[in-house]
Amino acid sequence: MNRSSLCLSLTGATVAENLKEIERYDCYCDLYELRADYLEPLSISALSSFPAQVKKPVIITVRRAADGGHFKGSEAERCGILRRCLASGYRYIDLEEDFQDQKIEQAAEAGGVTVIRSFHDFSGVPADLGRIIRNIKRNSGEVIKAAVMVQNTQELLKLVELALELKAQDEWGNRIILGMGPMGFPTKVLSTILGSSITYSYAPGRQAAPGHVDPQTLVDLYRFPLVNQNTRIFGVIGNPVIHSKSPWLHNRGFSLRAMDDAVYIPFQVDNLEAFFQLAEVLDIRGVSVTIPHKQGVIPFLSSRDEGVEAAGACNTIVWRDGLRRGYNTDISGFMAPLKESMGGAIPAGFRAAVIGAGGAARAVVYALRKEGVEVLILNRTVERAQDLAVAFGCSYGSLEEQERIADFSDLIVQTTSVGMNRECPEYDPIPGYSFSGGEIVYDIIYIPRLTPLLKRAMDSGCRVINGWEMLIAQAGIQFRLFTGQDLLREANSGIADRY
Ligand code: ATR
Repeated sequence: MNRSSLCLSLTGATVAENLKEIERYDCYCDLYELRADYLEPLSISALSSFPAQVKKPVIITVRRAADGGHFKGSEAERCGILRRCLASGYRYIDLEEDFQDQKIEQAAEAGGVTVIRSFHDFSGVPADLGRIIRNIKRNSGEVIKAAVMVQNTQELLKLVELALELKAQDEWGNRIILGMGPMGFPTKVLSTILGSSITYSYAPGRQAAPGHVDPQTLVDLYRFPLVNQNTRIFGVIGNPVIHSKSPWLHNRGFSLRAMDDAVYIPFQVDNLEAFFQLAEVLDIRGVSVTIPHKQGVIPFLSSRDEGVEAAGACNTIVWRDGLRRGYNTDISGFMAPLKESMGGAIPAGFRAAVIGAGGAARAVVYALRKEGVEVLILNRTVERAQDLAVAFGCSYGSLEEQERIADFSDLIVQTTSVGMNRECPEYDPIPGYSFSGGEIVYDIIYIPRLTPLLKRAMDSGCRVINGWEMLIAQAGIQFRLFTGQDLLREANSGIADRY
């Protein structure tokens, strides 16, 4: 079966640096692209001996600044470098669509060096990309490469549709179509499905740009070698989403279950309508939904579970029997670690204070009320606390009324996003409340793991639960909805070191 090759772009300043990178990533890569435009002048002379030192095919590229590269010399100098490389064992030579030196093209053909005819657009996906791709080939043996910046979901849809259309018309191995930027990221993982004969990766830290991926992540996390025509595609939609932990959990879950036919990818989405079209085109089987789309996806669903209806938010969609089924696994995900910490059930007469009244609080309040818990909602904006309290039959107040927590102090749940991502590292929403030590304190924030509130609670002897436990529990429920199997506990081991 045809499979896309994994190429590492070498952008070191010296040949020695590049060889070191090859040594590190060789077990993941099928070929290399030597970006001579990144080499310092002294290393240019070492270009001819480079392919002999590498056991895999090498592409030689000298990219001009106008095409996103670093080469600052004249076109004559650039051609001089390329010419010297032609007889040095390079397997491919990258020449831009407007490259003007027929002698180099002829020499490449005569020497068995394949021309990669490349087209770049850093401003977006051109409306006439199909025409461009069909027209830029000059000689029959050339491989066409189009690398375009994907600016929005509509453009990703357009690019994917075009890639599939060309794949259906033409034989394998003639094209590389890649989306750049975080929105183009799925095209890197799905290159085999999209008919691209090569996907490009970069070593971490080097030319790191949003949407770039290193070879190890592509293979170990995104299961690149396994992705093919029969792969079931899952993912997470959000904006931004590239740093989501969900790909780690789900892809590890697939590996642990030996499900070689599934992959889970982040889709940065700014237009839900375009995404749902893309989902049809790619036959996506299931997605997790995160900020800011948990409410926005609801009109697109064919069916909604009780949690979606009650919380007004959907965090899981499964495509089955032609239907888009929406679920809210945040609710059970919130409840699972709480129940576990209480030996499996919530006792009668249990009382809880919920801090915050946004979307996350809504799911939490619904989950607690369903279990018969008496709830007090405190929020900075008291009207929002009131709306939520009226909807679910709770008490409410402003964040200033922290003394009222004492009457609802079996459980205190922090749902505001203020301390998220270490943005407000000192934030404690209830500084005026003194813990007795008997409370369970639950902060749904997962970065940092120990928020100031949890730390203070722990120091006072309280039982604490953090957002990681909720995240992992809800992912487990999602995994079951996606695959019908349990997410094994080992799936989350090591995740702490990564995030
Ligand atoms: P989410 O879906 O994550 O809950 P949200 O619906 O925007 O996001 O709700 C954010 C919650 O954090 C709200 O309770 C918000 O309080 P307001 O309703 O008063 O806006 C709370 N929040 C956000 N910033 C806050 C701050 N600086 N201090 C206190 N509460 C804050």
